[in-house]
Amino acid sequence: MPFLPPRAALLRAARQPLRIDETALATPGPGEILVRNRAIAINPFDGIVQSLGSLVTPWLRYPAVLGTDLAGEVLAVGPGVSRFAPGDRVLGLALGVEKTVNRPAEGAFQDGVILREACAARMPSGLGFEQAAVLPLAFATAACGLFLSEHLGLRRPSLDRMRESSSDAVLVWGAATSVGSCAIQLAAAAGYRVIATCSARNFDHARRLGAATCVDYHDPAAATRIVDAVGDAPLAGALCVAAGAGGACIDIAGRCAGARRVAMASVPISLTDAPLTGQLRWKLGRLPRLALGFARLALHARRLGVRTSSIWGTAVVHDAWGARLFENFLEPALASGRFQVAPEPLVAGIGLESIPAAMQRLAQGVSARKVVVSLPDPAVEAGTAMSR
Ligand SMILES: NC(=O)c1ccc[n+]([C@@H]2O[C@H](COP(=O)([O-])OP(=O)(O)OC[C@H]3O[C@@H](n4cnc5c(N)ncnc54)[C@H](OP(=O)(O)O)[C@@H]3O)[C@@H](O)[C@H]2O)c1
Repeated sequence: MPFLPPRAALLRAARQPLRIDETALATPGPGEILVRNRAIAINPFDGIVQSLGSLVTPWLRYPAVLGTDLAGEVLAVGPGVSRFAPGDRVLGLALGVEKTVNRPAEGAFQDGVILREACAARMPSGLGFEQAAVLPLAFATAACGLFLSEHLGLRRPSLDRMRESSSDAVLVWGAATSVGSCAIQLAAAAGYRVIATCSARNFDHARRLGAATCVDYHDPAAATRIVDAVGDAPLAGALCVAAGAGGACIDIAGRCAGARRVAMASVPISLTDAPLTGQLRWKLGRLPRLALGFARLALHARRLGVRTSSIWGTAVVHDAWGARLFENFLEPALASGRFQVAPEPLVAGIGLESIPAAMQRLAQGVSARKVVVSLPDPAVEAGTAMSR
């Protein structure tokens, strides 16, 4: 790391606050790159791992480094890496908390991060780090849910030729989320007619990304409006990206002709407000409701003959096709302007110290924005320190 010792936001044990500490830079191994981090995006999952790690990531070794989304500059490449060279500006999906990885060097919440070559894409010159950091996990999760055979198994997006839009529809429930923003674009690039739900104030957002029809999910008649919009055409699948929306998506899939499939990125009730201390009371109230929510969805789906699946977004990179997505789709699609960076970043702070406040900002709720932390340019920082 030039000029300044690298630091990380460390989670020393489950349910602890993050602590900033100096760390050593890892050396990239075969197929890996070392990236000097310039922007981190915050995901609901980060707070859930911090507070409920013993439930959702029981394998996690401590101290852990959380975070999946980042953008920065390549500092070094490992053996066999041909796509990148030092100095390249990249966005990337950090896999540090993945069960099969479980490695602090690959967590995004630090200055120097190890990325897998397959999980990185070169950024177009006009794209800022804060914008680019919005994409990686949302893109991976949307692609996982839409295209892998265990989920919706849709025909895949192509850049060679822009697919003609067909009459088959895809429902993206939660179009103003970061996952939904990528899903609209991916489904449209695969030639589907996208029906999207979001608040009415975000209709323009969804349309700009390629949605053909927008429905306000607050409308009590939303499900009927969606079924009407699908019409006689098949509904190829529904992607559910909002806690508590699974029942409505199953209902719609059951009422439409087509594949009768729903892929869910979210759980039946939100888990983002779990406290770090005094959790027992929260768990006693929430976990039975979560289990009941899953049971109700399973029963509802069975009754309507709808197949459901739960998405683990990073799983896409373990698929033979998905492993090439950052290289073969995202990078050229960003370069040609065919894939838009959305939603807009909401920069909640500068420096690793801002991560806890940024996580709190996300927990308060956002609308069509992605909470991001900007990391200063170390050359500028060093210059400032020298001039003091
Ligand atoms: N399974 C995975 O691997 C994975 C990966 C990433 C994210 N996720 C999950 O995906 C969800 C979205 O996360 P995110 O980070 O992309 O976005 P986010 O920042 O959590 O999404 C905020 C947006 O959610 C929308 N929203 C809230 N309730 C809704 C509802 N009932 N119906 C439709 N939209 C609703 C709001 O839309 P309006 O402003 O238009 O009201 C708001 O803009 C979260 O539940 C997250 O945990 C799962």
